[in-house]
Amino acid sequence: MHNPRKVLVTGGAGFIGSNYLLHVVQKYPETAYVNFDLLTYAGNLTNLRSIESAGNYQFVQGDVADHAAVTALFAEHNFDGVVHFAAESHVDRSVLDPLAFVRSNVMGTATLLDACRTSWTKGDSMRTDVRFHHISTDEVFGSLGSEGFFTEKTPYDPRSPYSASKASSDHLVRSYAHTFRLPVVLSNCSNNYGPYQFPEKLVPLVILNALESREIPVYGKGDNVRDWIFVQDHCEALDLVFRSGVDGETYLVGGNAERSNLNIVETLVRLVDEALGRQVGTGKALIRLVKDRPGHDFRYAIDCSSIARTLGWTPRFNLDDGLRETVKWYLEHRDWLSAVRDQTYLAYYAKQYENR
Ligand code: NAD
Ligand code: TYD
Repeated sequence: MHNPRKVLVTGGAGFIGSNYLLHVVQKYPETAYVNFDLLTYAGNLTNLRSIESAGNYQFVQGDVADHAAVTALFAEHNFDGVVHFAAESHVDRSVLDPLAFVRSNVMGTATLLDACRTSWTKGDSMRTDVRFHHISTDEVFGSLGSEGFFTEKTPYDPRSPYSASKASSDHLVRSYAHTFRLPVVLSNCSNNYGPYQFPEKLVPLVILNALESREIPVYGKGDNVRDWIFVQDHCEALDLVFRSGVDGETYLVGGNAERSNLNIVETLVRLVDEALGRQVGTGKALIRLVKDRPGHDFRYAIDCSSIARTLGWTPRFNLDDGLRETVKWYLEHRDWLSAVRDQTYLAYYAKQYENR
């Protein structure tokens, strides 16, 4: 059991990081949390408004790949845990700007690991009362055909600059565990959806475009399959892995909810139509099949029976309830959605669609 006193959470202003902090800051008042985030386009401190004045929470703006900033952070705080979310996270952006992913995801993880190694080594030995939790993705395993599942034993086969940068970071984490005895746990999760997701990812993008009656781009034929998990289920799994997982272990986390993209999009537009009292089919008429993403992975699916057996975790939300709740949340937070749909986002999409 890992019972930390002071935890560094990187990337805590992003989608999953902010959902995680909203969960743990209130649940563990005796643990102090320092959120270290660069506040890229994907980071948003308004997500954390309800905990910003909590006595056990503090925000520091900074870059995980900035060695001087990370060294200063570790010198100031006596961390005994790190939960590492910070990353560039969108596959389409990694096609447009791969080096940004190498910098944040590979160099950033290496920089943090080295700060942990330096500050957690006492004489010749590594402390055992500390822990580095690396948050990763199922995309490191590559693409499945129509059958089979990823397990903890599936060999790595990343195929986009995003997944290759995440795979590299996973390897670095394991190398520090092996070489320096750094106490680590890793978790690789499937596609998350829920509150506070930046509207470049499929689910919030569809909701936003449906609300604003703009075209909804579906790549290729829309038959690619993802395994969807509600972000709160993921955060509960992360909490268990960090506090009760076994040193050196990897945990695969999934929602047991495979759907094709077209099915997800059609479900979402129907839910938006229903919520707005619009005529059936209004949202569906906005769907456009567009040119496919280069190197588009066909299917991801996770066998999460191992974490069910070892830590007793299973997802609580079924996909239809989770999507309904998500649409409701975005409708109730339209100001959040329009605030994040800023110039960066519009400029990015303008550039992307020029290439189609
Ligand atoms: P996100 O893009 O919403 O948030 C990323 C956060 O990291 C932002 O707050 C951003 O400001 C911050 N950040 C980026 N580069 C940084 C840097 N160099 N230094 C400090 N902060 C930086 O991402 P997310 O969807 O919340 O994903 C979080 C983590 O979970 C990532 O490591 C991602 O690979 C992993 N993951 C995501 C999913 C998913 O479906 N979203 C699934 C599995 C794993
Ligand atoms: P995304 O949310 O970007 O997550 P990931 O690429 O990490 O799985 O995309 C989910 C799926 O939806 C993926 O197969 C690509 C597809 N997609 C579209 O069809 N249209 C879109 O506009 C976006 C953003 C994604």
